[in-house]
Amino acid sequence: MAATEGGAVVSSLSVVVAVTLLFLASGEELPRITHHPENGGMLSLLVVGDWGRRGLYNQSNVAAQMGKAGERLGIDFVVSTGDNFYEDGLTGVDDPAFMESFTYLYTAASLQKPWYSVLGNHDYRGDVMAQLDSALRIIDTRWQCMRSFILDTGVAEFFFVDTTPFVVHYWENPEDHQYDWRGVAPREAYVGKLLKELDMALAASAARWKFVVGHHTIRSVSDHGDTEELVELLLPILQRRNVDLYINGHDHCLEHIGSRHSQLQFLTSGGGSKAWRGVFAPNTDEVRFFYDGQGFMSMQVTPSHLEVVFYDVHGRAIYTWGTSKDLLHPFV
Ligand SMILES: *[C@@H]1O[C@H](CO)[C@@H](O)[C@H](O)[C@H]1NC(C)=O
Repeated sequence: MAATEGGAVVSSLSVVVAVTLLFLASGEELPRITHHPENGGMLSLLVVGDWGRRGLYNQSNVAAQMGKAGERLGIDFVVSTGDNFYEDGLTGVDDPAFMESFTYLYTAASLQKPWYSVLGNHDYRGDVMAQLDSALRIIDTRWQCMRSFILDTGVAEFFFVDTTPFVVHYWENPEDHQYDWRGVAPREAYVGKLLKELDMALAASAARWKFVVGHHTIRSVSDHGDTEELVELLLPILQRRNVDLYINGHDHCLEHIGSRHSQLQFLTSGGGSKAWRGVFAPNTDEVRFFYDGQGFMSMQVTPSHLEVVFYDVHGRAIYTWGTSKDLLHPFV
């Protein structure tokens, strides 16, 4: 057991998961989790987003295929890009949706690993504090949801960013929805502090690979398209700090978009349940892959190589992309 300064408690799992207090030394304030891969130098994981619908809209099928892929790859953990529970997040820590959309759905042995999750806009329409509450880990020990945090895997660092509060529209024109802004308002102060902490953490990172995970798109060619606030506020930091990948959900599809101005690549894995929006609106960046249906993504990462695969609802690998880094500097 370890506790962050903010009081979030992370229960010890069978794997090595520990929140350390390194940020005290570095001045960095984002909570940090350490999770080194079981298989020495190779990290394997799955990424899924926009999923919690009690198995409907092919969520069950995607979950079953994730189990098979997870088994084959021997994954270390799962990353959720948010919109964990539809339509309006959880009503509280005792909301049966938590088990009906998570525990009873992702039952494969290979998926009994930590699920590192961010919140999506639909999660913000419910009781946000419930999803962040350690009481959920008593129900299901896999659940690791925080607003913004760092996951240090040795070979790569993942920087999870709480993107919903960036979007002005949700604050100023919520329509029929109610957003749970407890702990987040006022927007400008929250977003400003978060960006500063992220920038510092990225600058201080010595990781070979830097991945940033958020719910909302930066660049997308589907229904929601680009998120202007993130293009304006987050993108320049990711480019300046040589981030390798921005990984998101929000658009219910699978896509890979290459950036024209930096090494940064945009990967959307938002196909956890309802999909098929029928929208394709190319932007000025390079669309390398777009699939409008359900599915998920796997990643395998070594100090020198990164491979990403998208799978459809049948578990078929429909796209593979890889990149390498030369080992000029010895990896510690
Ligand atoms: C579920 O997947 C099948 C196979 O791709 C597809 O034909 C069907 O439309 C999907 N159902 C929904 C609700 O998206």
